[in-house]
Amino acid sequence: MASTISGRRTFFTFLLICTFLSVSTIKVCEAQTKPPTAKGLSYTFYDKSCPKLESIIRKELKKIFKNDVGQAAGLLRLHFHDCFVQGCDGSVLLDGSASGPSEKDAPPNLTLRAEAFKIIEDLRRRLEKSCGRVVSCSDITALAARDAVFLSGGPEYEIPLGRRDGLTFATRNETLANLPAPSSNATTILNSLATKNLDATDVVALSGGHTIGIGHCNSFSDRLFPTQDPVMDKTFGRNLRLTCPTNTTTNTTVLDIRSPNTFDNKYYVDLMNRQGLFNSDQDLYTDKRTRGIVTSFAVNQSLFFDKFVFAMLKMGQLSVLTGKQGEIRANCSVRNADSKSFLTTVVGDMVEQIIQM
Ligand code: HEM
Repeated sequence: MASTISGRRTFFTFLLICTFLSVSTIKVCEAQTKPPTAKGLSYTFYDKSCPKLESIIRKELKKIFKNDVGQAAGLLRLHFHDCFVQGCDGSVLLDGSASGPSEKDAPPNLTLRAEAFKIIEDLRRRLEKSCGRVVSCSDITALAARDAVFLSGGPEYEIPLGRRDGLTFATRNETLANLPAPSSNATTILNSLATKNLDATDVVALSGGHTIGIGHCNSFSDRLFPTQDPVMDKTFGRNLRLTCPTNTTTNTTVLDIRSPNTFDNKYYVDLMNRQGLFNSDQDLYTDKRTRGIVTSFAVNQSLFFDKFVFAMLKMGQLSVLTGKQGEIRANCSVRNADSKSFLTTVVGDMVEQIIQM
């Protein structure tokens, strides 16, 4: 009898330990699937003020991509270019003004798709009709990029919202300094992204954005002329020279030859076959620090998806404006006319700083 009781006790203790372990393991896993949420952003931000926000955007984009799948790539890149320069504040959307040429006019942004800007403004107008002027252009851009990934076959994930639109745009030099060139090697890319708290896994995962979309010949012609980059697969290079016969052609080609319109892990398979388009892509497989990560994503798509989501959540929260900072633009390409919002922000910030002192 005594031995049965002690046997049961052992069994229950074992169960308890297992439950404890599995609960704590889940907690650890949960903690790893999402980076910390920036102060002022939340996953329920528009639940009351614009409950249909996400369904409106998803429905519109589904229609748009059905007609032209390429627009998904344009929207994903737009969010990246917004976040890397001055944070995800919609500054890339602003037109130039008397104060000077805008971010949009800086070289890396000249190949952003004009249609992407139009899609964001159309969505803003539609959302204003449904909810009033409550949703920021920077949040619309973030949601459009998120849906671009999912609707092209990639992972589905929630993003925190509540970004506010910036009142200024970056200069040409700031823009150039924050968006690495496609000719960069892995060291340059790793160092550049490290300044934004993005590590090697984030770098390789985010570069996987190149699983969809296109590039212009002049973004990689340095690998073809005067001679072909020896790292590049010979046949791949020969075919690229057919698309780009001289180093001044303005043609385009796909970034991922295996599945150019599908968000999958084939970009990493391309790299392993030395068929990456930009040096910044291919060198991730050459460099010892990132080669293993490339291989791990090439053989395991769900690992890539998990790491991509994690890195996108980090990227999507870079230097966000929240609370009373910035504004909600009435037109994504211009700052609101009433400089009141600008003054309110500046004065508000000063008051807050004085209170804190
Ligand atoms: C890490 C450094 C990166 C470099 C050097 C880089 C460079 C480039 C270049 C040169 C193009 C082609 C521009 C053209 O010739 O038209 C391009 C396209 C693209 N990039 Fe990146 N990129 C980087 C990171 C990213 C990230 C983080 C994402 C998103 C997560 C991204 C998404 C895209 C997409 C989707 C396109 C295709 C755009 C289209 O078809 O309109 N890139 N990138």
